[in-house]
Amino acid sequence: MNEILMRDETLFKNPEVFEFDYVPDILLFRDSQLQSLKFNIFPALKGLSPINTILIGPPATGKTSAVKILFRELEEEEKIYTAYVNCNIDHTRHLVFSRIFREIFGFSPPSSGVPFSQLFEKIMSRLSRERKPLIVALDDAGALFHEKELDSVLNSLLRAYEMFEGVKVGVIAVFSEPDFRSLMSSKSVSIFQAQEISFPPYKKEEIYGILEKRVFSGLYSGVMGDEILEKIVEETEKVGDLRFGISMIKYAVLYAEKNARRRVVEEDLAFAVEESQKHIFTSILSSLNEKELKILEKISEVEEDVINSGELYRAVKEEIEMGYTRFYESLNKLDNMRLIHMDFTGRGHRGRTRMIRLRYPKEIVRESLKMMMR
Ligand SMILES: Nc1ncnc2c1ncn2[C@@H]1O[C@H](COP(=O)(O)OP(=O)(O)O)[C@@H](O)[C@H]1O
Ligand SMILES: [Mg+2]
Repeated sequence: MNEILMRDETLFKNPEVFEFDYVPDILLFRDSQLQSLKFNIFPALKGLSPINTILIGPPATGKTSAVKILFRELEEEEKIYTAYVNCNIDHTRHLVFSRIFREIFGFSPPSSGVPFSQLFEKIMSRLSRERKPLIVALDDAGALFHEKELDSVLNSLLRAYEMFEGVKVGVIAVFSEPDFRSLMSSKSVSIFQAQEISFPPYKKEEIYGILEKRVFSGLYSGVMGDEILEKIVEETEKVGDLRFGISMIKYAVLYAEKNARRRVVEEDLAFAVEESQKHIFTSILSSLNEKELKILEKISEVEEDVINSGELYRAVKEEIEMGYTRFYESLNKLDNMRLIHMDFTGRGHRGRTRMIRLRYPKEIVRESLKMMMR
């Protein structure tokens, strides 16, 4: 075979498997989680109440994929309604219920000023009339907390049966915050009664297995050798985010193509690391609000590599209105999203002062922020 790649040739057998929103046919190493999830939801198919469920685990551990795979299986099912809600996008109770409306009715509610009570009434009377259970997945439900909407969303969904006869609603809430319980009031926790399914971080061998499968389904054979994949797995483990590995494969192959190579060589990896950092980073940034972006910007502007939280708070306050508690919530979110590292110093007000550093190179942070804010 010719070693040189022709201009109209490609090394990708199936490029879409490297996109972040690609849902794989099989979720490796997640059999038990998927089984439990199905066990909880399937009673709805028999007209019984589903078991509310919480999926909990750090980013890129397959939570969204698990929900999408479940809903894909239920797609043909006439006996129930399903509604997938990405709470980063639909981040208020009104937006959440507009989404649910769309899923049930098949068209959007009139956008201008339909009050929540009307949306709610329309949705619930239909469910009551048809006696069809509804399963709502609140993906990244923590995003609702930051708008203080989580309690009211849960309350509206889970107590609808009190007002509308025969309504059965099951909720799957997805969290990446380890302290997700503190995002809900104790009243919500008690009406929610959810069973938890945990998605632990992938071990090195698991990362290897998942990436190997992507390579197999996405690239022509021989394009990526084992030793190159091994290096990508190492980089991925360092960052602690599977998406980084998926993105690295994509960019390494694009770079090889650009240089008319038929296989990825080590030289392609340096380029892939940098591009993947930018790529991952921009996608994470898209789920931050303006205040969180501002905090991140301030961290990226400090001369040294670390800043303490007190100083940071002062710098942020110079530019925007922000209370102390809200500031700490936002820092926690940035930490959960693995954008920053926080170390306790044990000093400061109630020992709360922390040393903060970015997990990504400053230049990349600044560049991506500039692009976002444009
Ligand atoms: N077990 C798995 N097998 C195959 N691909 C996976 C697995 N877990 C995660 N992925 C892939 O990793 C990326 C992130 O997964 P996702 O389900 O979005 O994670 P989370 O919702 O937990 O952040 C997606 O591209 C997904 O296809
Ligand atoms: Mg997700």
